[in-house]
Amino acid sequence: DGELRDLADARGFEIGAALGVDHLANDSRFADLAAAEFNAATAENSMKWDAVQPSRGQFDWSGADDFMAFARANDQAVRGHTLVWHSQLPSWVSNGGFGAGELRGVMEDHIDAVAGRYAGQVAYWDVVNEMFNEDGSWRQSVFYDTLGESYVADALRMAAEADPNAELYLNDYNIDGINAKSDAYYDLARSLLNQGVPLDGIGMQAHLINGQIPSDMQRNIQRFADLGLDVAITELDIRIQMPASQSELEQQAQGYRTVMDACMAVDRCIGVTVWGIVDQYSWVPDVFDGYGAPLLFNDSYQPKPAYYAVQEAL
Ligand code: XIL
Repeated sequence: DGELRDLADARGFEIGAALGVDHLANDSRFADLAAAEFNAATAENSMKWDAVQPSRGQFDWSGADDFMAFARANDQAVRGHTLVWHSQLPSWVSNGGFGAGELRGVMEDHIDAVAGRYAGQVAYWDVVNEMFNEDGSWRQSVFYDTLGESYVADALRMAAEADPNAELYLNDYNIDGINAKSDAYYDLARSLLNQGVPLDGIGMQAHLINGQIPSDMQRNIQRFADLGLDVAITELDIRIQMPASQSELEQQAQGYRTVMDACMAVDRCIGVTVWGIVDQYSWVPDVFDGYGAPLLFNDSYQPKPAYYAVQEAL
């Protein structure tokens, strides 16, 4: 046994967690687990557009700076999340009525400011988040509607300019297995690479349901690796219909093991990040009615069967 981060370090693997800055500040048990168990970190909310640029040209770095300081103090690889996304986007952007030229400028200013501020300190950026619908069609958003699909290549080029050392990713949910949506990413990634667009990796969020872990996850990861891309599991959680029974917690542990094994079996799958640490702070109950208990530590901050499954996989 041993802490997850030490086991991961020994294998050259990253085991990360999404960290809420308020919890880091106000809950020392949370902060202690974050520091002790994880060698990588993602800001759960504090680097999103609404947090850092709530109105045009007005930046609030308080949460993002706190997060970066914590990660630096604890020697954690940072996944910057996220530069361009339709959600948690202030209405001055989504309802700004900008034409294409001005919106591209707004996007560039944002990317320059955020990726530029932390240049050299962020290992990976989720440059664009959640661009496709489940059927593989483009998701409507102010970016797609105004700029067309070229906004993705533009955002990647802008991010490369702002932080030349970061690895640049596209990130989404329900692309963990092979399906129409992950096919859309596959086709887009291939075409971006063919055009010389700076794309380094694909982030598979892996917000999963207990008992429904895609059986073709390893094959899916491998096909992106075969394109010459890295892959990361970026937001793993496995939600259970509440109340969770002991056997469901054991099944969940199997699910975590399956995901860990799928990633670790592919050289270019660099790491797994869990979307939170303790069940009680998870986003799941707020968004998925009746579901909960998706993480590695229970409400008493004790490791669950899922924790030991991750430990064994490492
Ligand atoms: C979630 C956070 O966990 C919540 O605190 C917030 O209210 C909403 O966003 N996909 C993503 C993440 O890329 O940024 C989302 O995080 C979860 C889904």
